[in-house]
Amino acid sequence: MAISMNRERRTRTRRPFAFFRADAQRGARDHERPILEFEDVYKFFGEEQAALRGLNLKIERGEFVFLTGPSGAGKSTMLRLITRELGVDSGRILFAGKDISRLTDRSIPYLRRNLGIVFQDFRIIPHWSVAENVAISLEVMDYSPRLIRSRVSEVLERVGLEGRGGERAGRLSGGEQQRVAIARAIVTEPALILADEPTGNLDPALAVDILTLFEEIHETGATVLFATHDHGMIERGNHRILSLEKGRVYDVRKGLSSWSASGVHTVREQGLRVVAG
Ligand SMILES: Nc1ncnc2c1ncn2[C@@H]1O[C@H](COP(=O)(O)OP(=O)(O)O)[C@@H](O)[C@H]1O
Ligand SMILES: [Mg+2]
Repeated sequence: MAISMNRERRTRTRRPFAFFRADAQRGARDHERPILEFEDVYKFFGEEQAALRGLNLKIERGEFVFLTGPSGAGKSTMLRLITRELGVDSGRILFAGKDISRLTDRSIPYLRRNLGIVFQDFRIIPHWSVAENVAISLEVMDYSPRLIRSRVSEVLERVGLEGRGGERAGRLSGGEQQRVAIARAIVTEPALILADEPTGNLDPALAVDILTLFEEIHETGATVLFATHDHGMIERGNHRILSLEKGRVYDVRKGLSSWSASGVHTVREQGLRVVAG
């Protein structure tokens, strides 16, 4: 599974934000920039259909942010723009101050090494062991086998799967498989963790456990952007909430007690601050 790389690339990939290093414009101060900024971002699917219509937002390092909005609101699209699976049609997305729409195809893997991504459907390899599923994140960065073993066992302990590394991943329960996926996402200590409906395939009690795990990871200093349309999840946490409605994003400042998903008007009537309108 190990992928051989030349020495120059090896040293570059070990440091966070290594993909910025080629950029002569970049100064030390950029590390103090918000981890993520959207500036008037538009994304169209076909001529008529705008998924995102002028999105503006800022996420600071160390925040835990829920991204909500009804199904089809554009949550996954937003996350796929951050990973550069999709490109913006206009506007800019800055990751740690760097405009990611200007990254070359060769630089995109470096961006992704600074992101930890967790999906609704886990996306683990069922016939690999738990440890192999987690180790792959480090193997593509060409860490030594010894370091990989110790990092994998540390992270499995962190997600509640201590001593389970040798088991076949496909044999684990849904909640445990999602823990494997979370371990794979965090083992590289990414600058930003993106979770796209990570509790969507789990029954409510397990979903709460997974949310709690994300909160624990956040407590240790990680920045988390957690997309969910499940109000049950959002109501449990005391976190900042970004709501996507009709292609725009609103900061819901006062929690969800009187908020409903019925639309932008509701958000406005409750006197909540509109970040982009
Ligand atoms: N690849 C695509 N091609 C065409 N339309 C798409 C594509 N991806 C998403 N959309 C549309 O963009 C809108 C937002 O979708 P999505 O980001 O998946 O929303 P959410 O994750 O909030 O449910 C929807 O109307 C969806 O149909
Ligand atoms: Mg989605």
